[in-house]
Amino acid sequence: MIVKDAQFIISAVSEKQYPEGSLPEIAMAGRSNVGKSSFINRMTNRKKLAKTSSKPGRTQTLNYYLINNRFYFVDVPGYGYAAVSKKERRSWGKMIENYLLGRKQLKGVVLLLDIRHEPTGDDCLMYQFLKHCRIPVVVIATKADKISKGKHAKHVKIIREKLQADPEDMVIPFSAETGIGKDEAWKAIENLLD
Ligand code: GTP
Ligand code: MG
Repeated sequence: MIVKDAQFIISAVSEKQYPEGSLPEIAMAGRSNVGKSSFINRMTNRKKLAKTSSKPGRTQTLNYYLINNRFYFVDVPGYGYAAVSKKERRSWGKMIENYLLGRKQLKGVVLLLDIRHEPTGDDCLMYQFLKHCRIPVVVIATKADKISKGKHAKHVKIIREKLQADPEDMVIPFSAETGIGKDEAWKAIENLLD
């Protein structure tokens, strides 16, 4: 996909604020600090579209970005951030669950993992939850610039095994730094949108 237009629409804290209309939505999921916002920026070639931070917990609302007036990327707050209270975690859980289960426009989820590490328990839960709900998922193994290219396949295999990934689900090595995997990621997302 050639991104001609990408714009921030709204930071939504409740359902009432989700955009009206029937444009499809692709949501990001993944641990805090894994690179969800950076993924959106690289995919759209806009360095500062989604706010990124070296500190985890930067994205705290559902942030909608309208791409080519055709669909939305929805940046979702990350999970697994230790410094949030139980109460905050519960309200996060409710917001995400409502969104993932209730949003008709949702066409699929991009689940981001760090290519260097074995998926955490939370990662596995998120993947299994998406499968259980029959929400199409594309797995992005990001920060691929942090290991040599020769090791990508081995790490992808470890990720697949730990997630017990469905053979039909893609696991794509990706780097927001270098752009590795961008074309493949777009292909997978276009599949979700069709
Ligand atoms: P939250 O909003 O807190 O959930 O985090 P996030 O998942 O949106 O992560 P974000 O995109 O803010 O990135 C976190 C940190 O990782 C930043 O310092 C990014 O520069 C860095 N980062 C993200 N993607 C990559 C990548 O592909 N390669 C490298 N080397 N660094 C990355
Ligand atoms: Mg973010």
